Amino acid sequence: MTILSFNTKVHFGHGERSQLVNELRLNGISRPLFVTDKGVRSAGVFDMATESLGEIAGDAIYDTTPPNPTEEAVEECAATYHAHRCDGIVGIGGGAALDLAKATAVLCGQDAPLWEYCNRHPQPRPIHQPPPLLLIPTTAGTGTEVGRSAVIIFRNGIKAGIGCPSIVRAAICDPELTRTLPPYMTAASGMDALSHCVETFCSPVINPPVDAIAIDGMKRIFGNIERSTHDGADLDGRWNMMMGALEGGICFQKGLGAVHSVSHALGALGHHHGTLNAIMLPHVLRLNAPYISDKMTIMSTALRFPADADLPLSFARLNQRLGLPEGLKDLGIETAIFPEVAKAALADNAHRTNPFALTEQDYIKLLHEAW
Ligand SMILES: [Fe+2]
Repeated sequence: MTILSFNTKVHFGHGERSQLVNELRLNGISRPLFVTDKGVRSAGVFDMATESLGEIAGDAIYDTTPPNPTEEAVEECAATYHAHRCDGIVGIGGGAALDLAKATAVLCGQDAPLWEYCNRHPQPRPIHQPPPLLLIPTTAGTGTEVGRSAVIIFRNGIKAGIGCPSIVRAAICDPELTRTLPPYMTAASGMDALSHCVETFCSPVINPPVDAIAIDGMKRIFGNIERSTHDGADLDGRWNMMMGALEGGICFQKGLGAVHSVSHALGALGHHHGTLNAIMLPHVLRLNAPYISDKMTIMSTALRFPADADLPLSFARLNQRLGLPEGLKDLGIETAIFPEVAKAALADNAHRTNPFALTEQDYIKLLHEAW
C-alpha cells in the first residue's frame, strides 16, 4: 500500500439534489454546461436534479451522450462548452454521461488530442486547469462520481480510462433520482457496482481500508439489488444500492480484474458495460477461486452463505432472477472475435490486478465458457 486516498466530497441522501445550487455558488460557476442524455431528460430526472436552480439553470445543455462515450462526443461537448462561454460543468446521468463530463473537463482545461491524456498512452499528458466539475449520478452502478478515471472509446478503437482522480469538485448522490430507473437498467448497472466491489476485493494490491469498503458495498448491493429491480419505488433499497455503487467507485484505486479487462474489450464494440460484467462475473470468479480461497470464504460469510458455498453459482443464479442474459451469445457476440478480444483484454489496465495473470489462451477459454 503506497497511497491511500479518498478524494471526492460527496453529498449523500434523499433530497440532497438541493445542494446543487450551493455547490455552483461555492465553485464560482455561473454559466454551467449540463452534460446528460435524452433518456434522463425525457424521464424528468434532469428537471428533478436541477429543481433547486430555478432561472439559474441556463440553456447550455449537451444531451446527446452516446451509450458508450466516444472521443468524438467529448470533442463535441467541449465545443458546446466554449460556444456558450461556460465556466463549469455539471454531469447528470449514468456512467456514460458522467464519464463524458469528466473527459470534457479534461479537454476544456487545455486543448490537446484526448488520447494524449489516456492512461494507455506511453506518456500521459498532465491535466491542466480543468473547469470546476460537479457530478450527479442517476443510476446506482459505475460509481464514477468518486472513481479515478473517465472511460472513453478512442478513435483508435481502444476503450480505456483517462486518469483524473482529483477532477470532481463535488458529487451529489440522491437516491430519489434513481426511483424511475427501469428494472433492466437497475439490475445491469447494479451488477456493474457489485463487480467493482468483488474485483477490487480480490485484487492482490494491499489496501485493508478499501477491502472493508468493498465488503460493505457487496453486502448492500447483494442484499438490495432484487428489491430495487422489482420495486423501483423502494427508497430504502435505492439508498443502499446507491451507497453500494459509491463504495464500489471508491474501491477502484485498488484495481479491477478480468471481468473488467474483458468488458472493456467487448464494450469497445458497443455492448452494455453492466450487462457484460454481470455475464462475466461468475466465470471469472470460478477461474480465480483457487488463487483467492481465503477471500472466497470472507465473501461467502459476508453474504451470509456457508463458508464453502459455490459463490460463482450464486452470482449466476442472481443474474437469472434479475432477468439478465446468461451468456455472451445472448448479446449476439460471435466466437470468431475471441482471439482479438483476448488480445485487447491482455492490454487492458484491469488485467494487471487480476488475482493471477491470465494468458491469451486463458482469455479465449474464459470467453468460450461465458458464451
Ligand atoms: Fe465497471
